[in-house]
Amino acid sequence: MLKGKNILLGITGAIAAYKALELIRLFKKNNANVKVVVTPNALNFVTKTTLESLSQNPLNIEQFNISEYKPEHISLTDEADIFVIAPISANTISKIALGISDNLLTSTFCAFKKPVIIAPCMNTNMWENPAIIENLKILKQRNIKIIEPESGFLACGSYGKGRLQDINIIFEEVKNTLIPNQFLKNKKIVITAGGTKENIDAVRYIGNYSSGKMGIALADNAHKLGADVVLISTINTEGKQYKVTNVQTADEMFSAVKKEFKDADSLIMAAAVSDYRVKNKSEEKIKKNGSSLILELVENPDILKEMAKIKKDKQIVVGFCAESSDLIENAKQKILKKSCDFICANDISRKDTGFSSDYNELYIIDKKLNISKIEKTHKQIAALKILEKIYGKN
Ligand code: CTP
Repeated sequence: MLKGKNILLGITGAIAAYKALELIRLFKKNNANVKVVVTPNALNFVTKTTLESLSQNPLNIEQFNISEYKPEHISLTDEADIFVIAPISANTISKIALGISDNLLTSTFCAFKKPVIIAPCMNTNMWENPAIIENLKILKQRNIKIIEPESGFLACGSYGKGRLQDINIIFEEVKNTLIPNQFLKNKKIVITAGGTKENIDAVRYIGNYSSGKMGIALADNAHKLGADVVLISTINTEGKQYKVTNVQTADEMFSAVKKEFKDADSLIMAAAVSDYRVKNKSEEKIKKNGSSLILELVENPDILKEMAKIKKDKQIVVGFCAESSDLIENAKQKILKKSCDFICANDISRKDTGFSSDYNELYIIDKKLNISKIEKTHKQIAALKILEKIYGKN
């Protein structure tokens, strides 16, 4: 896949340096030529022998290698097609934002004119430090691609944002930068995300635990693949480079989908739409009065089913199916009942995937009831695989 591509991987002194070993393995497995440059501190976390064995190249540590006619940082910049720094520490982020060139890695960055991707890793408090926020903003303005860390348990024992992003996501980003894949160019894709909220009164609603992560991952990936994306979401998302329409109720979602689907190539209903809404919702806050409260619920429109009914031949309609038992059987019933082109089924009884998790394991079922499985992976990677599947790319 990456044959003939020269990747320069920078590793700094951060605990996730050990994960960079897996990244080198992925690059090599895909036939890339990998050279590694480290800051002196990185060698507190990974060894020269391991890095040289995996990359099958000498490790670059010293700024001036007298056996070469060129300074080392200049020969490294000349050869590489891309510079990936993963993990990058708070210290190195700040240095490169200011142009400080006090070791081989920072000097190489300073002289590098081709694409650069950085994947930060640090303690949450450091990630939230105003100086780091400012320095990352500077780098972003200079077209440095930043792969934000994920939230989780950190090496320091706390929980929060700062863990190096999933290695597979870093790999996909590098691959997509070196060989841009634009198979969704000129396609309009409408995607829904999040759980709808059905008002009971002025302050209460009926809702569900959907985080919207799967729908947002689909929208992010479709955008990267060149699509004209419209995300219809109950979750507020900021800074997206595609159109986002915020909705709250199933009715609002239905109106937005109807409007956008007319000239779309596909619709992916990743949202968890409430099947019912309150018949007589109160505009005022309901007061308790010592007796039980009975709410009458009426059925919401089934957006997926309605859109599948009116879709033109070339339009693709994809549904999701979240089940806590008999996953495949229920998913098969659902695709037949709703007449959509594909259904992506996941088991919500599992704690390690689905709903609010960053990970998912899915089965994709087509109209002919053929089943393919997406093994447990990050939702960003699962999203890419779903898009590839529905557009026949795998
Ligand atoms: N869906 C929809 N409109 C609804 C309910 C669901 O468009 N009113 C869509 C969801 O976005 C999803 C698919 O239908 O893509 C399946 O949703 P799910 O909640 O699993 O199915 P339901 O039809 O609600 O069936 P049930 O809750 O009875 O399992």
